[in-house]
Amino acid sequence: MDQPRWALVTGASSGLGVEYVRALARGGHNIVLVARNQDRLQTLAQEVERDFSVATEVMAADLHASRAVVRVAKRLSDASRPIRVLVNNAGYGIGGDLAKSDPGVELNHLAIHITVPLELTRAALPGCWSEEKAE
Ligand SMILES: NC(=O)c1ccc[n+]([C@@H]2O[C@H](COP(=O)([O-])OP(=O)(O)OC[C@H]3O[C@@H](n4cnc5c(N)ncnc54)[C@H](OP(=O)(O)O)[C@@H]3O)[C@@H](O)[C@H]2O)c1
Repeated sequence: MDQPRWALVTGASSGLGVEYVRALARGGHNIVLVARNQDRLQTLAQEVERDFSVATEVMAADLHASRAVVRVAKRLSDASRPIRVLVNNAGYGIGGDLAKSDPGVELNHLAIHITVPLELTRAALPGCWSEEKAE
């Protein structure tokens, strides 16, 4: 019997992330939804379970926190429940004057768009490859 296909979407609580979740669920993927706002994730998870008969997992995680990134990475590298698709979508834009900005805010912004996707992608690759080979 075919293994269920799982996708993990970061930033799944609003905007583009919601649409990625709906599109992947429409295509038959089970979804792990990641963002900070657990209530919004739960509401969307219930919606796609109902509309597309897929399974979901909700992971409330602040990707500015390294422990949360490790937790999501562990889920991605769990060989017993492989993730086939990773969507590194969490993030935001910041404006303002770089010369006057808070360095912590700038570093968080860089991390969520660069180092966090790098870590998550590294964690996901072995599972994605083994899923590809299994086909
Ligand atoms: N919309 C555009 O025109 C556009 C253009 C260029 C690039 N992008 C990029 O595309 C992505 C989605 O944009 P969008 O317009 O859909 O933005 P959005 O509606 O603001 O959604 C951003 C998502 O990222 C999550 N997020 C933000 N900070 C997080 C954190 N610290 N930990 C975990 N999750 C976090 C938010 O969830 P929580 O608040 O619940 O954590 C939310 O689900 C972003 O990376 C954005 O930079 C968008």
